[in-house]
Amino acid sequence: MTNPRPSVSWIGDARSGHLQLIDQTLLPVEYRELACTTVEVVWDAIKMLRVRGAPAIGVAAAYGVVVGCQTDATSTRDQLNSRLQHVVTYLAGSRPTAVNLFWALDRMHRTANSVPNLTSAELLERLLVEAKAIEREDREMCLAMARHGLPLLSRCQGVLTHCNTGGLATAGDGTALAVIFAAAAQNPSLQVYADETRPLLQGARLTAWELMQRGIPATLICDSMAGWVMKEGRVQAVIVGADRIAANGDSANKIGTYSLSILAKAHNIPFYVAAPSSTFDLTIQSGEEIPIEERASTEITNAFGRQTAPDGCRTYNPAFDVAPATHITALITEKGVIQPVTKENIHAMLKS
Ligand code: MRU
Repeated sequence: MTNPRPSVSWIGDARSGHLQLIDQTLLPVEYRELACTTVEVVWDAIKMLRVRGAPAIGVAAAYGVVVGCQTDATSTRDQLNSRLQHVVTYLAGSRPTAVNLFWALDRMHRTANSVPNLTSAELLERLLVEAKAIEREDREMCLAMARHGLPLLSRCQGVLTHCNTGGLATAGDGTALAVIFAAAAQNPSLQVYADETRPLLQGARLTAWELMQRGIPATLICDSMAGWVMKEGRVQAVIVGADRIAANGDSANKIGTYSLSILAKAHNIPFYVAAPSSTFDLTIQSGEEIPIEERASTEITNAFGRQTAPDGCRTYNPAFDVAPATHITALITEKGVIQPVTKENIHAMLKS
C-alpha cells in the first residue's frame, strides 16, 4: 500500500477549500493528515517539516498563497494585490534553501500580475488553477525523471540513498526515490541502502517507510556506515535529490550529501543527483551562493523528546550541504540526463 493520498493536495473550491498535508513529523508511528486553513498554518507546516522535500514545499507554498488570499476574495483588486504580496513575502521566510519554494511563489505572483483585469474572486480561482498546475507538473516531472534515470541503475545490485526523496517529498513518486522505484520494479532483488539521515531521520522514518510500503528490500544504515558499505562493494551507485542546483551544477541537499559525494568518488562509484528543473537556480553561479539553513540546536540535543547531550552543550546544525559538480556523475532531470555536469550542458538541457 502506498500513501492513501498525495503528500500535498487541495480539498474543495477556491473560496473555502484548503491545503491538505500528510504530517511527516509523525511518521512512521502515526499517519495523520493536517488541514491547513490559514497561511499561518501553512508557514508553520513548512518551517516544522510537517511538509518537507523541495518539490513538496513548492507545491504547498503555491496552495498556501491561495489559502492566504481567501480572506480578501471579496475586497478590491488593489487590496487583494497587496494581500498577495504580503502572503508571498511571509511564506518566503519559512525556509531558505529549497529554491522550489521561491520558484513556486514567484510563479504565483507572476500569474496574478498577468491578469490585472480579473476581479478578486476571479483571481482567486485563477491562483488555484495555477497551484494545481504546479502540483500536476511536479507529478509529471517525477515520472519523467524515473524514466530517464532508470538506465543508470539497471546494472546495480545495490544502491544507496540519503534523506527522503519519494512520494512524501514531491507531488508524485519522487525524484531520486522514483528512479529507485523504477529500478526495483525492473530488478526485484535490488538492495536499497537508506541512510538514516541525522539529525531528523528522514531516511529512517520516511524513506524506509516508503520502500517497505512498496515491498522493496530496504536496509537502513546509520550515516556513518555509508563508507564501509561502499568499501564492502554492496552498492554500485549513490542517488540523491537536491534542494537547489547552481548554474555550474553544484547541488545543495540534506546535510551528509557532501560527505557521500566524496566517499563515492573515493570508491569509484557513480554519484547521481535527481531533480526537476524547478530545483535549478540559474541566477547563481556556484554552490558558494546557496543559502544554507541552520536549524535549532535542540534537533541535535533533544531530538524526539529525549535529551542526548549535556545541558548547555554548544552545537552547529546546518541542515544542508553542497556536493560540488565535479563529484556528480550525472544530473537526472525531467528533460533528460546531464552528463558530464557542466554549465553548458545544464544550460542546453534546461532550455530544451
Ligand atoms: O529538510 P528536508 O527534509 O526538507 O530536506 C529534504 C532534502 O534534502 C531532500 O533530499 C531534497 O529536498 C530533495 S526531495 C525530492
